[in-house]
Amino acid sequence: MRDQTRGPATNPVAATTVCVIGAGYVGLTAAACLAELGHEVRCVESDPLRLAALTRGEIPIYEPGIEELVARHTGSGRLTFTADTAVAMDGVAVAMLCVGTPPRSDGEPDLRQLGRAATEVAACATTNVALVVKSTVPPGTCEALELFVGGQAREGVRVRVVSNPEFLREGRAVWDFFNPDRVVVGADDPNLGQLVADLYPSDWPLIECSRRSAELVKYASNTFLAVKISFANEVAALCEALGAETDKVLGGVGLDARIGQAFLAPGPGFGGSCLPKDLSGFIAVAESAGRPAEVARAAQRANDAAQVSVIAKVESALGSLPGRTVTVLGLAFKAGTDDTRFSPALALVRGLALRGARVRVHDPIATVSDPAVCQLDTPYDAAQGSDALIVATGWPEYHDLDPTKLRAVMVGHVIVDAVGVTAIEPLHDVGFDVYGVGRGLATSFAPVLWRPLEWMLDAGQPSTIAARER
Ligand SMILES: NC(=O)c1ccc[n+]([C@@H]2O[C@H](COP(=O)([O-])OP(=O)(O)OC[C@H]3O[C@@H](n4cnc5c(N)ncnc54)[C@H](O)[C@@H]3O)[C@@H](O)[C@H]2O)c1
Repeated sequence: MRDQTRGPATNPVAATTVCVIGAGYVGLTAAACLAELGHEVRCVESDPLRLAALTRGEIPIYEPGIEELVARHTGSGRLTFTADTAVAMDGVAVAMLCVGTPPRSDGEPDLRQLGRAATEVAACATTNVALVVKSTVPPGTCEALELFVGGQAREGVRVRVVSNPEFLREGRAVWDFFNPDRVVVGADDPNLGQLVADLYPSDWPLIECSRRSAELVKYASNTFLAVKISFANEVAALCEALGAETDKVLGGVGLDARIGQAFLAPGPGFGGSCLPKDLSGFIAVAESAGRPAEVARAAQRANDAAQVSVIAKVESALGSLPGRTVTVLGLAFKAGTDDTRFSPALALVRGLALRGARVRVHDPIATVSDPAVCQLDTPYDAAQGSDALIVATGWPEYHDLDPTKLRAVMVGHVIVDAVGVTAIEPLHDVGFDVYGVGRGLATSFAPVLWRPLEWMLDAGQPSTIAARER
């Protein structure tokens, strides 16, 4: 297999100079990968700690493959880091905004970082510039941003805004950059769109569209993924209630080529810096356009319920939570990243602590700074003296936990595998009660389903048997 940190064996690009604003998961990946494609990249980062780490050659985020790429291209001179937008923008015609667009407390998008970064770029531009918005933003933002920065550029300099949303997944960001399902470029001028499309190899799948459409591709994609996860959790809950086999049911559903297996795994709900925020952004945009997003809202409610139901399982298995010790394995919102933003694992940790449990945690990479939570170096240290253990993130090391070792260190015998990665039988064999989402021990008995019989015998409708007898 090709080294994923090497550029793809695809069509070469015409090298240009790009200023990337923001060196987070998206910006650092874009900067390093654009340099690998052959461009000269000047990356601006305003956080002094992040910038200091980068200039020392350290990578402030966990993302496989980034370290090699950054080392290669700071070495080759194609990638530089600075806090000074004016230095970075000197003579540059393409600036890519990769700053955060977090949710406000009311769920609507907070676009202040974007406004500030765009203002800085406009003020520093020495030539006409394409302001490329890679950050995820609500439809209409690029048009608004162009108006917002219009008067801020120096005399004779024109700033035009292009949408080029990012679809990478944390933990696979480099791979995703070089193997995109699609590159989406939204521009109101085909020449400007082409300028941005030309940053990427010409044989990558390209969608050229309006700016609003490009922005909505990103919002709608993440909303659909959120809906899929919430639907999987709803099916899992129904399987639990009916005594049906969740893995077979969702496996059978996902094998339908029209549906697909991805994102059909039940769990403690979706999290991370993207899905929850983009889902609430989608809802806010839809409502402001007078089109209430009922499906998206339902997915959001179901996600809240998914997190609560994991805690409810631990509580019902233990009888009560106050004073009990519970171990949570995993803090990151998914395996393969150190990102804990809106992590369901962290929500479980906080929820348990709020309900009076003593919480001990482990994560191979992510950390939590909460004096009420004790973080240990191994899963077994974390499990020491615990009444119950929750597997909250699907890290590979939790797939094959040693049941005997766990049994020896834990006081209690309750395991709730919220992400469905453990083998239940070996844990069961050493005396654990294992619960899960749609798997493991049932928390209620599957009822006899009388309703189908009633439906067959509905007084208004002759039953098939009666009809045959007539
Ligand atoms: N993280 C993902 O998986 C992912 C995937 C696709 C899209 N996105 C979107 O991309 C955007 C960025 O996400 P992220 O996870 O990389 O965020 P992040 O918070 O990790 O990174 C943003 C960076 O921008 C820097 N910054 C902010 N204002 C700046 C300025 N004026 N000048 C220079 N630097 C500045 C911040 O210090 C930070 O380092 C968001 O809109 C997000 O929704 C994220």
